Amino acid sequence: MRILITGAAGFIGFHLAGRLLADGHEVVGIDGMTSYYDVRLKAARFSILDEHHAFSGHKVMLEDTGGLAALAERQVPEIIIHLAAQAGVRYSLENPRAYIDANLVGTFNVMELAKTYDVRHFMVASTSSVYGANTTIPFAETDRADHPMTLYAATKKAIEEMTHAYSHLWRIPTTALRFFTVYGPWGRPDMALFKFVDAMLNDQIIEVYNHGRMERDFTYIDDLVEAVARLMSLPPEHDVPKVGVRDSLSPVAPWRAVNIGGGQPTDLLAFVHAIEIALGREARINLMPMQAGDVPLTFADTALLTALIDYRPTTPLERGVAQFCEWYKIHFNVG
Ligand SMILES: NC(=O)c1ccc[n+]([C@@H]2O[C@H](COP(=O)([O-])OP(=O)(O)OC[C@H]3O[C@@H](n4cnc5c(N)ncnc54)[C@H](O)[C@@H]3O)[C@@H](O)[C@H]2O)c1
Repeated sequence: MRILITGAAGFIGFHLAGRLLADGHEVVGIDGMTSYYDVRLKAARFSILDEHHAFSGHKVMLEDTGGLAALAERQVPEIIIHLAAQAGVRYSLENPRAYIDANLVGTFNVMELAKTYDVRHFMVASTSSVYGANTTIPFAETDRADHPMTLYAATKKAIEEMTHAYSHLWRIPTTALRFFTVYGPWGRPDMALFKFVDAMLNDQIIEVYNHGRMERDFTYIDDLVEAVARLMSLPPEHDVPKVGVRDSLSPVAPWRAVNIGGGQPTDLLAFVHAIEIALGREARINLMPMQAGDVPLTFADTALLTALIDYRPTTPLERGVAQFCEWYKIHFNVG
């Protein structure tokens, strides 16, 4: 199968592309190589994928309508997995326009490709952030999610709604993937694990927000990739029975949203402790107040994921954190 992955030089795209290539698929990877974080990390990921004969990597911005269309015309996709986005909750307070451009305009351009090439499955990255101010836990896909706390979350919710409309109008089987705090080797420098490990190896103080009273449903990258790979072969169908009471399958379109998380939130101080064990060092912690836009807890309901693919993420946090620290030390030649 020929699969177009946007954001293939990104953290999740890189791992997913590697897995799909190993499964025997052809992968066309596109990425704008934006400077939100160190481009060398993106280039290094791309060059690893480039070693595979069935991979072709292309530097294209999502907003480049013509460039994107020309590429798709040459490499007609059967499946599109749209991961490229301006990510990050906190940065959306600093540079909101980047989210409008990449996430709204960019996603619209990718939706047009999904329509033009009548893809078998259109998979789109969403986020646990769409649950916003919800307090009913765990977060279920059938819960209303009407109160986003940041523009990042708002653009992701808008992406869900935009793709729903196209799914309805053009019968595009679409799955919105609600990822919960993904971590692992080759992870993002703007995320807590990377920042904490970097600071601890350099004897610097780490900042822990909301005085440590924060819980996240951490999802190890290999588990997430396994879930996405399984879901890929389950494009939603309209007019079929739901798989359970919590199935978010639309009544009017072959569209559903699926949580990908383990359903086991961990508090930040336990997370820091797992890093201390992996590095064999003690953290110097500065407890900070809550940051604007942050939520105190994310917690995935995994009933739908399990009903669909008989799988949910289970890698223990200690093991996943140790894998990241191992990668970090080798990649940056430290520790
Ligand atoms: N990592 C997480 O914990 C997490 C959680 C929830 C949702 N997500 C979502 O998953 C997706 C992948 O996240 P990631 O962690 O791999 O992030 P990432 O930043 O590592 O990857 C995104 C990639 O998209 C590219 N990109 C950004 N804007 C672009 C544009 N306008 N045109 C072309 N390329 C562009 C970047 O260069 C980057 O390589 C994103 O949509 C993100 O919002 C991630």
